[in-house]
Amino acid sequence: MSFLGIDLGTSGLRALLVDGAGRPVGSAERHYGVSHPHPGWSEQDPADWIAAFRGAVADLRAAHPEFAALRGIGVAGHMHGACVLDRAGEVLRPCILWNDTRSHVQAAAMDADPRFRARTGNIVFPGFTAPKLAWMAAEEPELFARAARILLPAAYLNLWLTGEAVGDLSDASGTAWLDTGARDWSDALLEATGLTRAQMPRLVEGAAEAGRLRADLAAEWGLSGPVSVAGGAGDNAAAACGIGAMAEGAGFVSLGTSGVLLAARDGYAPAPQTALHSFCHAVPGRWYQMGVMLAATDSLNWLSRITGTAPAALTADLGPLRAPGPVRFLPYLSGERTPHNDPAIRGSLTGLAAATDRGDLTRAVLEGVAFGLADSLSALHRTGARPDTLMAIGGGARSRYWLEAIATALDVTLTLPEAGEFGAALGAARLGMVAAGAGSVAEVMTPPAITARIEPDPALRPAFAEALAAFRASYPAIRAIQ
Ligand code: XUL
Repeated sequence: MSFLGIDLGTSGLRALLVDGAGRPVGSAERHYGVSHPHPGWSEQDPADWIAAFRGAVADLRAAHPEFAALRGIGVAGHMHGACVLDRAGEVLRPCILWNDTRSHVQAAAMDADPRFRARTGNIVFPGFTAPKLAWMAAEEPELFARAARILLPAAYLNLWLTGEAVGDLSDASGTAWLDTGARDWSDALLEATGLTRAQMPRLVEGAAEAGRLRADLAAEWGLSGPVSVAGGAGDNAAAACGIGAMAEGAGFVSLGTSGVLLAARDGYAPAPQTALHSFCHAVPGRWYQMGVMLAATDSLNWLSRITGTAPAALTADLGPLRAPGPVRFLPYLSGERTPHNDPAIRGSLTGLAAATDRGDLTRAVLEGVAFGLADSLSALHRTGARPDTLMAIGGGARSRYWLEAIATALDVTLTLPEAGEFGAALGAARLGMVAAGAGSVAEVMTPPAITARIEPDPALRPAFAEALAAFRASYPAIRAIQ
């Protein structure tokens, strides 16, 4: 038996094949672009995802005969994107992505309607799906009138795989149409956006079976037995499944394009006033809360671009962790969700002197992201969650300096999983396993072995606490010069 986990990411699609015990067999990756036709816009053509999917499967089939014994598939997707289909199932316009802020006016209007926070437990952020449809209604009324089906990116792939419009609850939590406590669409919120349940996918739990792989695709991929397709998940819930973060307080810090601090919760304890996200987990009866920063590795990539130096080279020669210097970086290059809910805020570099060098700038950028994550942790504390250990995942976790700065700024222990697969693709494969009946959630969603623990540096804690206070104090000044 083998299982396939798909991580439909912002920059590419990763396909991971695991064996019957959930151990990685092989992986394949295909990349695609994001188009930015106007400032603040961010779009992708779903056809590129399908091409990447087909290409990755071709690579896996060529390299791993185990693919022929495929029994289950799970898809994790970047969240919040709006794929809008007409009656014939054709995509009406490019998918508007999670980091697209064009609908900030519509989002603010929806957020001012108390029904949204009351039912969803969340702020209506501009990146969420509902304001994107409200934007379409205002700016592209002919297309909006033809919208027969609205799917999140992962549900779009489910449709392609099974022929059925089925989505999962963890991803649906990011639409602003879900009654997050009741784990069902809210008809009232859909109606407030001029939509009905008939335009939405059927909802299932992420680890439940959404349908079976279409016979024509199974034949194309040389598969004989039935293949279950799981409900799937939003990428953050899937990553939590990949590291076994299911129990109260278990969680991670993810340093990807976006920066995420996530903790699993036993119950539903919404706290929209904190700008945290309170979402359904990908397994029944569980939720999670997370703070989302829009530019984590994106901040380092920005410095990399303007200095003409690769990110790894920027962080390579920083030496041991040091107290923050006078240079302060606010990482709001694309606006910010947690804790500010402010699509218009922008970043800043202050405290520059004639002697400031590249190392000072790099440390300031890494510290700025660490302080942003500290803001998310403070928000989480206000909901009663107190994680003292978080697993560090994502590309940015390769920088030891960054991890030490985060552990010290947050005063938490970070753990590093052993090298290998543990991200959203593994979580998605695990959802495919459970959906196909290959094991229970408790059996399959286990934590990986830990290779390192990064403790806060007690000698540097006071300096980091002081710099965090300065970071927080500079926010109103930045707002004032917008
Ligand atoms: C979460 C969010 C991002 C995307 C990125 O709310 O918007 O983490 O899911 O893939």
